[in-house]
Amino acid sequence: MNQHARVGEPPIPFIDVAAQRRRLGGAIDAAVARVLAHCQFILGPEVRELEAELAAFSGARHAVSCASGTDALTLILLAKGVGHGDAVFCPSFTFAASVEAPALLGASPVFVDVDEETFNIDALSLERAVATAKQQGLKPKAVIPVDLFGLPADHDSIAELAEAEGLFVLDDAAQGFGASYKGRKLGTFGLATATSFFPAKPLGCYGDGGAVFTDDEELAETVRGLRVHGQMPGKSEFSRLGVTGRLDTIQAAVLIEKLKIFQDEIEARNRIARRYGEKLGNVAIVPRVPDGYTSVWAQYTIRLPKGARDGVAAALKAEGIPTAIYYAKPPHLHEAYRRYPVADGGLPVTNRLSHEVISLPMHAYLDEPTQDRVVDALKRALAR
Ligand SMILES: Cc1ncc(COP(=O)(O)O)c(C=O)c1O
Repeated sequence: MNQHARVGEPPIPFIDVAAQRRRLGGAIDAAVARVLAHCQFILGPEVRELEAELAAFSGARHAVSCASGTDALTLILLAKGVGHGDAVFCPSFTFAASVEAPALLGASPVFVDVDEETFNIDALSLERAVATAKQQGLKPKAVIPVDLFGLPADHDSIAELAEAEGLFVLDDAAQGFGASYKGRKLGTFGLATATSFFPAKPLGCYGDGGAVFTDDEELAETVRGLRVHGQMPGKSEFSRLGVTGRLDTIQAAVLIEKLKIFQDEIEARNRIARRYGEKLGNVAIVPRVPDGYTSVWAQYTIRLPKGARDGVAAALKAEGIPTAIYYAKPPHLHEAYRRYPVADGGLPVTNRLSHEVISLPMHAYLDEPTQDRVVDALKRALAR
């Protein structure tokens, strides 16, 4: 086949936010118009309504919305008094925000390696990281597993280790909200969960947004105060140092409408991921969802033979097919984070994955002909 036969076809989006906008357009316009009419732009009625619906959806007792996923992580750590001298264990195969939150509070992130199959935090490396932290005179305080690309981390193993070491678990479900592990939705593991409503996330708003989930009433109340400068609900006193970390009412109104179709979108994402797996399983290492887990497929990320990635990405780009690399340079290699400790044994899997992974277009509105274009182009690129 002529290798350039497809060049010139219209580009396809990596995430088609506009397709969802078309499906929901009228409802969202009306929801935003209601906020414009009542003018309660900060902590208006939609914020409370959304929080109740998020709690019901996830099964967590409390959902507290906030300004971003990064704020959600930071507010939980702040509420727990995490700071100087504390070790917070994080994978390095993640977005910088997972590590940035503890570092901003003066704590020391300690980098942990990930599992080769799931891309999520590796229990053995976590155990080593705890020993590394102790050797360096740090106080092991918390672990932040990340449900990377929408797949839950192995929450049972993490809980066991966390209990043995006296750590609290803060689940970073920025990419995984909506997924489940052994029959329970994310938002219900560990002490608390953080998620992001960044527009490209499986449940995204039209700006920045995030939420904290917890069963712990006191923690939920503290986070409600910390997102308003440390002024606890119903009190005039600023009792703690806090931030301006609220979710805008307009974003809450958008999310209420999007949450109505979220489960349906999760099912569509799973259909699309299954189809990718069937068509690409013999040319690349495709993601596998372990028994008892479900994913929300924030990304569909495959592994290519070493050295093949740049050529494949360029070939797909020439055919109007975008790809992304999460994460070509994991946080432990960035200037801001190079000084923080790495688990004994290093991060060999993280380093290997960072050279091999590539993410393909994935969203709930990816139709079969468009998906076939991605699959065919990828196969052609790999056959070169
Ligand atoms: C794993 C992870 N954690 C945290 C965040 C931070 O979320 P936000 O961009 O809403 O601050 C993101 C967002 O990209 C993420 O992917």
